[in-house]
Amino acid sequence: MNTSPFKGQKLGTSGLRKKVTEFQQPHYLENFTQSIFNSLDKFQGKTLVIGGDGRYYNKTAIQTILKIAAANGFGRALVGQNGLLSTPAASAVIRKHKAFGGIILSASHNPGGPDGDFGIKYNISNGGPAPEKVTDAIYEHSQKITEYHRTDAPDIDLSQLGKTQVGEMTVEIIDPVADYAELMEQLFDFEKIKALFQSGFTMRFDAMHAITGPYAKVILEDKLAAPAGSVMNGVPLEDFGGGHPDPNLTYASDLVDAMSDMNAPKFGAASDGDGDRNMILGQRFFVTPSDSLAILAANAHLVPGYKGGLAGIARSMPTSAAADRVAEALGINCFETPTGWKFFGNLLDADKVTLCGEESFGTGSNHVREKDGLWAVLFWLNILAVRQESVAKIVAEHWAKYGRNFYSRHDYEGVDAQQAQALMEKLSNKFSQLKGQIFGADIVDYCDDFSYTDPIDKSISKNQGLRIGFDDDSRIVFRLSGTGTEGATLRVYFELFEADVAKQNIDAQIVLADLINLAEELAEIKKYTGREKPSVIT
Ligand code: G1P
Ligand code: ZN
Repeated sequence: MNTSPFKGQKLGTSGLRKKVTEFQQPHYLENFTQSIFNSLDKFQGKTLVIGGDGRYYNKTAIQTILKIAAANGFGRALVGQNGLLSTPAASAVIRKHKAFGGIILSASHNPGGPDGDFGIKYNISNGGPAPEKVTDAIYEHSQKITEYHRTDAPDIDLSQLGKTQVGEMTVEIIDPVADYAELMEQLFDFEKIKALFQSGFTMRFDAMHAITGPYAKVILEDKLAAPAGSVMNGVPLEDFGGGHPDPNLTYASDLVDAMSDMNAPKFGAASDGDGDRNMILGQRFFVTPSDSLAILAANAHLVPGYKGGLAGIARSMPTSAAADRVAEALGINCFETPTGWKFFGNLLDADKVTLCGEESFGTGSNHVREKDGLWAVLFWLNILAVRQESVAKIVAEHWAKYGRNFYSRHDYEGVDAQQAQALMEKLSNKFSQLKGQIFGADIVDYCDDFSYTDPIDKSISKNQGLRIGFDDDSRIVFRLSGTGTEGATLRVYFELFEADVAKQNIDAQIVLADLINLAEELAEIKKYTGREKPSVIT
């Protein structure tokens, strides 16, 4: 009998994300795990890494996965203590221990708890998410699965470090932080950052009751001597304390409040449910993720792990071109990829790029194959320790040197999917007449639907976002989210370049107002979404 519950369910590289209650259905997780193994070859006797972000159902799922992995012939499993591993730490563990692959249990920044979301994804031996050909194969197998193999062994104690057995398979419960912390010590100047804290420097890191709490406590407070209490919301909870563990100005409001005070710490940062996103703040100052990527690149020579230079930079298409200006100054390539971390994998594996980032609070490098929240925080701390200037000053100096790419993203969440589709179609139909038209002082230079040819495997990805670019380098981008769970989410991105220092210190929404109005005029956003204003403005 086909017990597959996944009919019609195409699988993305972020794996399977569903309500906890769906995962709790009989045989559901078993079938999916078996489908993963059915799509893999030659893993007999090899090592599998398993861990998750600590959300509700994490430990239960791990006990099941261990039994299925043992019955399928894996030789060894490395499991984070108490079932914990952040997504970047899982990537680091897979790479360091030369594992065959890993299973990460997380629904990233989605809320958790018995009524929240759960997720499972498979990462390959380079530490990165399984590429499309693997996720397609998992999907195919899930459609025709008729049985799964499961070792009849008792549950193990996930809290005890050390070796144990599940059937024929050896299980090693490992410290979830140790390998990751060791990698961070290789990349960053821990002595200098420690000296910074010892000189009285203050910071606040908001772990949002998610996975980065234990990592941040060990690395920031224990190893780097940040004052006790620098890490807030540091205990991972199965429901993230009822919060929405997404580090942005809306959901990380505890941190934003703490950083708005006159006596605010000098540096603030937050990470998401599974630890791969980051938000960077100074005193009463927000660093856009696009600027953050550019600033890390421009200052990489100050950081031990990157002082040998960068091979190149990659950013997703909607991310601002601030990084491109740094790449140009450094004489290196800047690649523009579609939205989604998976597009960076090939470039990193081929040593074409060292740093990469997205406007959606994701930054990372070739040290792992996932974006990495705490890594970005340590990169900033290393720069702050060397430059001994405030976050705001470093950003202002950056803009003065390279110009400022004013930037904002407007999200319309949970709108009617058909209407959202209709908006995109109508807009793209207008494109043939738009080129060369004049709006205000600007001429439309190009309008297209972004398409990308991977420089390494030559695969082509089409329909990656509608772009309208102007002769002064300003632009508007429209895309529909690929990760939203309810209805459709329309994202509209605005960018405008300003070289004049005298005009750089203005609120982005004011500077971008003409583009924002034009987006409404061209796409009739209010009419199609039924909304007067965006749900989230970044
Ligand atoms: C969003 C972000 C994208 C990121 C993805 C996964 O996708 O925009 O940059 O890679 O989440 O974290 P979207 O919902 O826009 O498709
Ligand atoms: Zn995440």
